[in-house]
Amino acid sequence: MKDSEISKYYKRKINELKNHNKYYFEYSSPKISDKEYDQLKNEIFNLEKKYSYLKSTSSPSNSLGYTPSKNFVKSKHRVKMLSLANAFDFKDLENFEKKIFNYLNKKIELEYSVEPKIDGISASLTYKNGLLVMGASRGDGTTGEVITENLKTIKDIPQKITNKDFPNDIDIRGEVFIEKHDFNKLKNDFANPRNAASGSLRQKNPLETKKIPLNFVAYAYGYFDIDKINRQSDFLISLKKWGFKTNEHNKVLKSIKDLESFHKKFENDRFDLKYDVDGLVYKINNLDLQNRLGFTANSPRWAIAHKFSADSAYSIIKDINIQVGRTGALTPVARIKPVNIGGVVVSNATLHNEDEIIRKDIRLGDTVKVERAGDVIPHVVLVDLKKREKKSKKFIFPNNCPSCGSKTIKEFNKTTKKYDSVRRCTNEGYDCEKIAIEKIKHFISKDAMNIDGLGKKVVENFWDLNLVRFPQDIYNLDYNKISNLEGWGDLSVSNLKYSIDQSKKVSLDKFLYAIGIRHIGIENAKLLAEHAKSIKNFLSFVNKNNLNEFINIDGIGDTQINSLKKFFENKSNYKIVDKLSSLLNISDLKLNKDGKLLNNTFMFTGKLSNMSRAEAKSLIEENSGSVVSSVNKKLKYLIIGEKPTNRKVQEAKELGIKILSQKEWLKLLN
Ligand code: IVH
Repeated sequence: MKDSEISKYYKRKINELKNHNKYYFEYSSPKISDKEYDQLKNEIFNLEKKYSYLKSTSSPSNSLGYTPSKNFVKSKHRVKMLSLANAFDFKDLENFEKKIFNYLNKKIELEYSVEPKIDGISASLTYKNGLLVMGASRGDGTTGEVITENLKTIKDIPQKITNKDFPNDIDIRGEVFIEKHDFNKLKNDFANPRNAASGSLRQKNPLETKKIPLNFVAYAYGYFDIDKINRQSDFLISLKKWGFKTNEHNKVLKSIKDLESFHKKFENDRFDLKYDVDGLVYKINNLDLQNRLGFTANSPRWAIAHKFSADSAYSIIKDINIQVGRTGALTPVARIKPVNIGGVVVSNATLHNEDEIIRKDIRLGDTVKVERAGDVIPHVVLVDLKKREKKSKKFIFPNNCPSCGSKTIKEFNKTTKKYDSVRRCTNEGYDCEKIAIEKIKHFISKDAMNIDGLGKKVVENFWDLNLVRFPQDIYNLDYNKISNLEGWGDLSVSNLKYSIDQSKKVSLDKFLYAIGIRHIGIENAKLLAEHAKSIKNFLSFVNKNNLNEFINIDGIGDTQINSLKKFFENKSNYKIVDKLSSLLNISDLKLNKDGKLLNNTFMFTGKLSNMSRAEAKSLIEENSGSVVSSVNKKLKYLIIGEKPTNRKVQEAKELGIKILSQKEWLKLLN
């Protein structure tokens, strides 16, 4: 090749690289695999080495090029960024209120701050002494990406606030979004306005963010030191005063009936808005009440998102597949003729379970109405019987697991005295391929071991290649083999290795959740971990057949104990847990150790006034105390409410345990 040809070739390669950098770093959607990307880079390096006259400012060897990392600096949120539970109809709203009344143990008139739910990307802005010092994305809710410079390019975000009453240290939270008419100009690059906002915000180069017109509306706080504001609606007013944009349709309403009628009206009006809204958010307006209600594992008890009704379309069922879930549940899924529902092409719809198929008499070849609401999985609503073919036959649900062939059953629920609507594979272990894959996916998931670089698709791929069969295999992966696989480059392999290594340090509650015992969700795993304290103790309960020990925990019942027993009766499960416990560094649960009630145990008997047991329990735990459910020598205080169980009071007296009224107990806490 002549020198001029070499130069031309080199320039072409540099341009290719520039293009791929764009797809990789700016659009977060690479067009080639990491391996191919690395090869391209190496080719350029080698050309430069061989022909010293070649040079370009865009050379990968030049530090002025793109930062060779897709990863933003991470930062842990001082207060978690949780999501909201969803309501779809009036019944859901009634349930929402009922739960609040139960928690407070009292029916009171509630006032709601009603706010349109804009479909964008949430962000948290930290202000110290009036200055915007950091901005972060939601990330996984616990840790976000630091995107301060990008957020600073948004005109609605004030960088300096001088109002006297602006808190010295506060996280302001809100939504970054793009207006409909701006999205229209970007239609070819992004699937929807939300993706456009997200793509733009996560540009490596803040100048790129500036190119897409982003907006910000503020609606909440994370960490804060406000004590003068008592209502969410007042907080929204203050936000406006401090220079933030707030939604012009925010309002205060009193009853769920009013919420319902406002929702109905707004559902139609929303089409005239400049931005996409996917529902309304209702928040208990009184901030003291919000504080009392607190959070469940994933969302606040004091707020709910009331979604707008779904888009729907008709299509034809081409096939019905049975999916097997982690706990053996068989879920029928309809493969439908692809149909556009509200801008998204849908080709699968869930049929929920066997009973639903029977109830709606859903058959192959049927014309069905399919509904899709926001990010919820599309589902089949009804069958158009007029279009049913004469020769169509009832769908027969399989009696054996389609994955392993084991018998399937419907369990009898002792509480409801009914059979479950879900049919399950009876194979609880790793012998059922589909269950095993789902168990591994659960193991790596965010709330469990949180292994970033190992997504669901990768698990499936590694399973097919025989690289993983059990969770412990993740810690013995053959990285050489992986780096030779298609789609894997040096960068992605080292990211994978890093996130797997990071996951080795895990707290006991997350580990107990990760091993995937049925009926042991995040909250129950925490309860078990608090009780067992260490993995060693936990395993010794298992080894000594002493799992009944956990029945003393408030919140753990027969269902959980039986499930634990069944899980460990399966020898392969035991082996897995044992193996993992030697491979991992499982730390004891970090308890809140500086509260007033440290080392004090409490038990309740009788009805408390103006407070549910759940709230009383979390009050004690927030102050480092613990709650037990039987009277024994370890108990320090028995708290008696209205109509206590005499036997318990008697037992406590005999053991010399202190007895407190609700008032005396609250005094202990101030
Ligand atoms: S409050 C702990 N208020 O909806 C509650 N969220 O599923 C925090 N959103 O992640 C959220 N408008 O991105 C709240 N007025 C509003 C909102 C809102 C939109 C989004 C937000 C959040 C998601 C909750």
